[in-house]
Amino acid sequence: MAAQLPAKLKPAARVAGQRQDVWSIVNEAAAASPVQPIVNMGQGFFGYNPPGFIINAAKSALDRVDCNQYSPTKGRPRLKKAISDAYAPLWGRKLDPDTEITITTGANEGMLSAFMAFIEPGDEVIIFEPFFDQYISNIEMAGGKIVYVPLSPPKDGASRTSSSAEWAVDFAQLEKAITPKTKMIVINTPHNPVGKVFSKEELQRIGDLCVKNEIIILSDEVYDRLYYVPFTRIATLSPEIENLTLTVGSAGKNFYATGWRVGWLMGPPHLIQYVSAAHTRICYSSVSPLQEACAVGFEQAESEGFWDETVQDMKAKIARFNAIWDELGLPYTDPEGGYFVMVNMAKVKLPADYPFPPHVASRPRDFQLAWFLIHEVGVAAIPPTEFYTDPNAWIAEDYMRFAVCKEDEVLETAKERLRGLKKYIEA
Ligand SMILES: Cc1ncc(COP(=O)(O)O)c(C=O)c1O
Repeated sequence: MAAQLPAKLKPAARVAGQRQDVWSIVNEAAAASPVQPIVNMGQGFFGYNPPGFIINAAKSALDRVDCNQYSPTKGRPRLKKAISDAYAPLWGRKLDPDTEITITTGANEGMLSAFMAFIEPGDEVIIFEPFFDQYISNIEMAGGKIVYVPLSPPKDGASRTSSSAEWAVDFAQLEKAITPKTKMIVINTPHNPVGKVFSKEELQRIGDLCVKNEIIILSDEVYDRLYYVPFTRIATLSPEIENLTLTVGSAGKNFYATGWRVGWLMGPPHLIQYVSAAHTRICYSSVSPLQEACAVGFEQAESEGFWDETVQDMKAKIARFNAIWDELGLPYTDPEGGYFVMVNMAKVKLPADYPFPPHVASRPRDFQLAWFLIHEVGVAAIPPTEFYTDPNAWIAEDYMRFAVCKEDEVLETAKERLRGLKKYIEA
């Protein structure tokens, strides 16, 4: 039984107030399901290994004394140089590895460092809804106030399959959200969970607003090698925008190694130096041998054909998996980037007397859909209202998010099981 803490030892409000998170609800449902083992398409981890040349680099790094000791706080020089070289053709210039790149413990810790570096109590940070859930607590830990601007799905998303491009930025709302206290805006492209790749025009408008109002842009581009339409990096739009932009990357997402916890931020020296300072105090430095392996990854990815392969493979997985929704007649959001598919399940009728546990019954309909899918067909997906504030949760309560970054056999098993939904689907 959990011990009760005396009042004097109570946990800090920043963690104590948090309700049961979606990951533990889904895991709990999976453990209790009569269908075992569950096909887990919930969390966005890969069902397969990084390519051999990167795995081998990690193995040989472990044999080197210097790779088993502290790396410099801003990251290993070899990795920073490899990132600078790999991004040069994408940026149109070579970033200075010493002053414009800093290595972090995954993108997550990199973003926490960015918030810790610039946000003080009372500062406002704009984020788009739906959001990657980690932003919220990271901003709140720094004392920031979050101002939400919704990305709106197509109004007829329940009746037709649409492109993720149709989730629209409401620029009138965005302008209204900007106040003299707005210090930062977070954008995420390609987007989790929607799969939207922000268009050049959208990014230009966002960038212009940030220049006009002096707002730092934190551009979370962790899926930056997985795009199926032209992809624009906001930092490359103008020197004025670049001056305000921190771009976030993730080796976990690039190289199928989410457990390695290697990420980085790129940006002008006057921003990067403070992110590095915060990172030094949060975790000092990041995992040495895996930084070395990621350096090799960047050095060799192009010549190994890995960047092309990663796009082709993921596109094929998306097409393979989405065939089931076409077959079942359930509309979905076709992603322009990343590896998440949002499926609209308005047509799935949940039995009125279904025995949902109270903590699921009290959440929006997508939590019940998630529970139902796990128990009735044995497939786990994520209820996306977790990525919304309560007043706006209705926008996504008919959707479910599926991560397709799994082995093809797993996708086929999922499809076979999802056919079991047929009897619950209204024509
Ligand atoms: C949009 C987005 N940003 C950041 C991250 C975290 O990346 P990392 O694993 O490198 O911390 C994720 C992981 O799911 C994500 O979806």
